[in-house]
Amino acid sequence: MNSLAALIGRLDETNNLPLYQQLQRGLRQAIENKLLGPDDALPPERDLAEQFRVSRITVRKALDGLVSEGLLTRKQGSGTFISGRVEKNFSKLTSFTEDMIARGRAPRSSWLRKSKGSVTPEESLTMGLSPGTPVYRFHRLRFADDAPMALEYCTVPAFCLPSADAVESSLYAALEMAGHRPTRALQRLRAVLFTAEQAELLRAHEHDAGLLVERRGFLPDGRAVEFSQSYYRGDIYDFVAELNASELE
Ligand code: GLP
Repeated sequence: MNSLAALIGRLDETNNLPLYQQLQRGLRQAIENKLLGPDDALPPERDLAEQFRVSRITVRKALDGLVSEGLLTRKQGSGTFISGRVEKNFSKLTSFTEDMIARGRAPRSSWLRKSKGSVTPEESLTMGLSPGTPVYRFHRLRFADDAPMALEYCTVPAFCLPSADAVESSLYAALEMAGHRPTRALQRLRAVLFTAEQAELLRAHEHDAGLLVERRGFLPDGRAVEFSQSYYRGDIYDFVAELNASELE
């Protein structure tokens, strides 16, 4: 790889922005502009320190931040690499856990809320449930390895699961165990700007671009089993769909 300093430009000590943040900004831009691509290896930290004329501590701090944002990945013994964007097939009814495992990433979640309640008027209309129907709510921050990928709010009618605690790491695994995994879903994708609170959880910045995916999942008999709103980080997620020309009559 050419010298990164030649690609990104030198850091400016007279600038108000700390050097490690300048380095992060340069690397982010190089990734966005595709000067650095998925799985490209970064030079060792001591080379970067030399190229940018900063200390190794500054380089380390810059890279640590980008690793925790999910833009870089560290592989034990072999160095630091540009992470691939996660491609999600928009037309497959798979779960977050399955998607991440299929990409060789380790899924995990931190729980924001796991509770029982009754449908809100909006959920009642969206899911076709009578007012007062008991539901479970599962709010999670979803990670791939250590990078936060999505903020997810799911509502499931209580008849679908034996208890809220039936959901441990995967909602779809729990629904499947209970014989209520959705077999059909409607999905809507919308561009959003993260609020300060969402950005903080996702280690992004306020007003960064995100993707909101809403899914309504149904059982074969047409009953709704899920209404979920997932806010994905726009900088590391690609939604991909396969399109087929319909038969011409
Ligand atoms: C995706 C879908 C959600 C679904 C979730 C289940 O993120 N967008 O609608 O609820 O997967 O994932 P898991 O089974 O990993 O909890």
